[in-house]
Amino acid sequence: MDKFVITGGIPLHGSVVISGAKNAAVAIVAATILADEPCVLENVPEISDISISLRILYEMGASIKILGKNTIRIDTRGISDPVVPYDLARSMRASSYFLGTLLGRFHKADVPMPGGCDLGDRPIDQHLKAFNSLGAEHTIDGGIVSLRADSLIGSQIYFDINTVGGTINAIFAAVKAQGLTVIENAAKEPHIVDLANFLNSMGADIMGAGTDVIKIRGVNRLKGVTYAIIPDQIEAGTYMVAAAATHGDVWINNIIPKHLESITAKLRKVGATVEEYDECLHIYTSGPLVKTSLKTLPHPGFPTDMQPQFSTLLTTAEGTSVVTDDIFDNRFRYVSELRRMGADITVEGTTAVIQGVRKLKGATVRATDLRAGAALVIAGMMASGVTTVENIFHIERGYENIDDKLKGLGADIKRVSDYENARKIV
Ligand code: EPZ
Repeated sequence: MDKFVITGGIPLHGSVVISGAKNAAVAIVAATILADEPCVLENVPEISDISISLRILYEMGASIKILGKNTIRIDTRGISDPVVPYDLARSMRASSYFLGTLLGRFHKADVPMPGGCDLGDRPIDQHLKAFNSLGAEHTIDGGIVSLRADSLIGSQIYFDINTVGGTINAIFAAVKAQGLTVIENAAKEPHIVDLANFLNSMGADIMGAGTDVIKIRGVNRLKGVTYAIIPDQIEAGTYMVAAAATHGDVWINNIIPKHLESITAKLRKVGATVEEYDECLHIYTSGPLVKTSLKTLPHPGFPTDMQPQFSTLLTTAEGTSVVTDDIFDNRFRYVSELRRMGADITVEGTTAVIQGVRKLKGATVRATDLRAGAALVIAGMMASGVTTVENIFHIERGYENIDDKLKGLGADIKRVSDYENARKIV
């Protein structure tokens, strides 16, 4: 499997353009199942989670046309067999969105239990609760979740916990149901608002996305539209942290500053300077970074998807930092890899205590999931010497051309394939 080989100690400088948001795009691609006409999606990131989503649609009978870089035409009218292929579904969490969309259109769905980043237990009980509220019965047999409904009737859905995927799947199942659905304790992430905007542009009637209460009046028909995906809040945050952690000076273009407020605030707290403009920002440091305490929260709080990256920055910040991330059972699996590089971190349950050290030292490390992989790339750029990051397939699930973008910022990063490695040996 491919690796990144990074020579660290180079402050990033220059400008980078942010791609479309992964977690909006995977939902919107799945949502095309609900469309009665073809859709054209723009600013779609070229990442493996999107490739897999498109492959699943194609295997079910949709027609997919690449119209240009990051622009795709999707016509799902040809889908007749709402069964999602097992191996494709297991490779990502977003395959759960085919439950809500197939149920919303066909009143039936057979989808393998989702896979994705190993962050501990990731049940779908709240998704099933939403489907049951609307009139669907579910069974789970052989790793396949099967939904059946004679009809879908709007209802009250109250989520016991804040769930992005559960909120998105409830919207999918309700958007063509009969009558009014009210979702309470809804997640408020920017990708939920983007999805609602996409569906409303097709003729859906969704109010309150981005707040705790979302009201949906079912409609019979959703027309085809052309729609541009919002910029990726987490990709942008990752480059912001990389710039600060390497004491660089970077312009980040194609962003929505409001989506980055919690990340910007934390970076300013540790000593970075962030200058915000309408669709870009300028981040640089003018001295050492200092400790902070951090607790991840649902949006608009500090996003859990930025925790590994920010914790990595804190490994060389002056003082002792405390990071708590209890959104998932275990989102600190990357810490053992950072310790190989000299980081001084102790983890107790869902809290990490980070003693700042003077410098990280290059080592061979292994990506354990998508954001952990990005964090290890940042660590490699911060460290003295050479760092090899293995299992970079995790990273490519959610970051478009991360090595080219970092090279554009002056980083010394090379992609090495195992084949090249093997050739060197023989
Ligand atoms: C989405 O995952 C994102 N993935 C994750 O991003 C992100 O970390 C997460 O939201 C939180 O923001 C996609 O959008 C594809 P949740 P999701 O349902 O929907 C528990 C990345 O790096 N829960 O909000 O799976 C769950 O176990 C990825 O881009 C239940 O208990 O997250 C977790 O502890 C990683 N029952 C918590 O809720 C349920 O039915 C939050 O999960 C559903 C969730």
